[in-house]
Amino acid sequence: MEATQAYIAENKERFLNELLDLLKIPSISADPAYSGDVHKTAEFIADQLKKIGAENVEICQTAGYPIVYGDKIIDPSIPTVLVYGHYDVQPADPIDLWTNPAFEPIVKNTEIHPDGAIFARGACDDKGQMYMHVKAFEAMMKTNELPCNVKFMIEGEEEVGSENLGIFVKNNHERLSADVILVSDTGMIANDVPSITTGLRGLSYVEVEVTGPNRDLHSGLYGGCVANPINILAKMVASLHDENNHITIPGFYDKVVELSDEERAEMAKAPFSKEAYCKALDMEDVYGESGYSTLERGSIRPTLDVNGIWGGYIGEGAKTVIASKAYAKISMRLVPDQDPEEITKLFMDHFMSIAPTGTKVKVTPHHGGEPAVTPIDSDGYRAASMAYEKTFGKKPIPMRSGGSIPIVAMFEKELGLKTILMGFGLDSDAIHSPDEHFGLFNYYRGIETIPYFFSYYRELLNS
Ligand code: BES
Ligand code: MN
Ligand code: MN
Repeated sequence: MEATQAYIAENKERFLNELLDLLKIPSISADPAYSGDVHKTAEFIADQLKKIGAENVEICQTAGYPIVYGDKIIDPSIPTVLVYGHYDVQPADPIDLWTNPAFEPIVKNTEIHPDGAIFARGACDDKGQMYMHVKAFEAMMKTNELPCNVKFMIEGEEEVGSENLGIFVKNNHERLSADVILVSDTGMIANDVPSITTGLRGLSYVEVEVTGPNRDLHSGLYGGCVANPINILAKMVASLHDENNHITIPGFYDKVVELSDEERAEMAKAPFSKEAYCKALDMEDVYGESGYSTLERGSIRPTLDVNGIWGGYIGEGAKTVIASKAYAKISMRLVPDQDPEEITKLFMDHFMSIAPTGTKVKVTPHHGGEPAVTPIDSDGYRAASMAYEKTFGKKPIPMRSGGSIPIVAMFEKELGLKTILMGFGLDSDAIHSPDEHFGLFNYYRGIETIPYFFSYYRELLNS
């Protein structure tokens, strides 16, 4: 891999400039106003893949945004790595809170990234991390050091639930056949504490609507006499956690796999400073389910959170009114072996049952996804671990994450393949938030580490 590493060192500046160009295209999959830009981004990726020597490059149309496919099969008898990533990004909202516009990327130093970080929506999630694979592939191709067959599958709907990717995978088993799936769409503990993600939470997402009276009412004439849907919704939401911050939905925990004391002790070895955590978020203390540490609350335990809540008068000044309706969007992060459909059903039944008479409740499910865990005794994990050790000089720690990539469980079901989550972002990189960024150190270290994964994986599989 020496020529590959030398090639990377020589081309760093261009690798950065190309990513900056990619980040300028606002590929927001959730907002139809950006549809043209999402398509343009797919073309950008496809052109890149063609340029650096991928074959069979195709912009595969779906009922939604396209999936970019490309491959390089050098020898059918050697291992094949399927690289997955996403080129779509979250909306930039609230845009006023960005120091610099979300789609005008700039490089700035921060305390955590003294060598500079790229600030832009998608810098870390996932354009920056996805593009590391494109550049690592380029480096291996240009130096004739590609040790495995490669297939790329880069989608444009991850941030809206990957529904069409699910269909694409079902219909393309042959084209997607591989030995392992490699994804960089997660994080690691710190730049001097490399880690590999071994678990993702699942997701159940619902929207609720509470209706009181059939129209908005004068809060003096009717106040006290009718169910105010906003009061009621607040009460219903509050009742979903008890005094220990356990979720009160009957059956919610039935399928939760409890970790053994040994596994919990192992987890507790990961470095975590409550002080630093609180300081970074400007809070006096953490908050959550009794009996579990912050690391556990954020990874091996399921949660329920309101993501948005609205209703009534929110304009200037005071308007005395009882609204007819109140709404909330609620996410539940799930852990093995909770099933998103079952949990959605449990939520619905429970939420309807606690609505007082005099109100009507509607629950609408949104996209969800299953949790996933990956073993640490596979050749894929071992190759990833060796690759990190090579570039970081330290063995990476296995770590379960709180985020969700629903497609990972689907890959296992449909293709029978395990996914290796080689993430290089940091939790402090503000993904989905204003001022999202990605360290230059992380971008380059990712590009350097990926080729080692390929070479170790080939060695392990062929030995
Ligand atoms: N890349 C993230 C997920 C992630 C981030 C996992 C960091 C682990 C560490 C992904 O793009 C994402 O945002 N997923 C969504 C779910 C999806 C169904 C919208 C999420 O976790 O909210
Ligand atoms: Mn992502
Ligand atoms: Mn995301």
